[in-house]
Amino acid sequence: MSEKKRLLTGLQSSGALHIGNYFGALKPFLNTYEEYESFLMIADYHALTSLKNPEELRQNIYNVVRDYLAVGVDPSKAVIFQQSRVQEHTELAWIFDCLVTVPFLELGHAYKDKVAKGLEANAGLFTYPMLMAADILLYDTDVVPVGEDQRQHIEYAREAAKKFNNAFGQTFKEPEEKIQKEIAVVPGIDGKKMSKSYGNTIPLFGTKEEVSKAVMSIVTDSSGERPENVYAIHALFRSESELGPIYETNAGKYKVLKEMLIEDIEAVIAPMREKRNSITDEDVKKVIEEGSAQAKTIASAKMSDVRKKVGVSL
Ligand code: TYM
Repeated sequence: MSEKKRLLTGLQSSGALHIGNYFGALKPFLNTYEEYESFLMIADYHALTSLKNPEELRQNIYNVVRDYLAVGVDPSKAVIFQQSRVQEHTELAWIFDCLVTVPFLELGHAYKDKVAKGLEANAGLFTYPMLMAADILLYDTDVVPVGEDQRQHIEYAREAAKKFNNAFGQTFKEPEEKIQKEIAVVPGIDGKKMSKSYGNTIPLFGTKEEVSKAVMSIVTDSSGERPENVYAIHALFRSESELGPIYETNAGKYKVLKEMLIEDIEAVIAPMREKRNSITDEDVKKVIEEGSAQAKTIASAKMSDVRKKVGVSL
């Protein structure tokens, strides 16, 4: 067994990834994954809580893996796998569901937000944190690199581990989140958290035209010294010491600043986009099949211990 600690993260295949996903999760993953035994998951069953279109879900799964490879994840150095192919995740989630209370799950932000907006939350969204706990705990994960919006989910995972360990004996490790302060919440074009569900994203792999359209519609506010929403996104691509003079020289010239931001985004994305275009569906399938088989070996060993502990294996 490897001496390295384990790192795991996942992204939902619920739509096109955006630069919030890149800076909040993928880049932090890329920065450290080689120091760990690393797992990168496609959270397709989580995506089912919001997506009810089979063709779209299937396409998104291909696209997310393509994105992982295009940003530079080396599949020989990380286990890239599809959540739904490792059925132990949903099995363990059920066991956790039986250990936690309804009021505990009612505190979940994703669930509360939906209810607060008067939307109907499905039971999958309600128990979502327990599926995520299973994703993490099955692999004895030490660290989970995520954006700030996932902090509570890691707390839930620790709670699930504690509850199981108290009830059935020491089994699960308590994971730690790894959230990089400067990029914990990437703002969208309206200044709120960038999110697929708010429709305020800059796509990670859009065409230059799509990126330009999104940047040009960043909401600017003329009351301050500089357009904060533009600056906050720009700061992801250039150091603040470089940006300072640029924003001073071009004070009030929002169009010029946005055009510079488009060029800076392009400089980062264009080479990755090119790489992405060369990745075929066959490449993706191979990565998913190999990675999911590796994940399955680990998860099924853990689950046979869990089944014994809870008393269902005879
Ligand atoms: P998801 O798919 O919503 O987002 C994937 C990752 O991107 C980060 N992120 C952001 N970071 C900074 N600023 C933003 N505006 C922004 N938007 C998204 C998220 O924090 C996340 O790290 N529940 C998870 C998926 C998941 C998972 C897991 C993650 C399922 N199982 C196990 C880690 C471990 C989610 O919905 O992420």
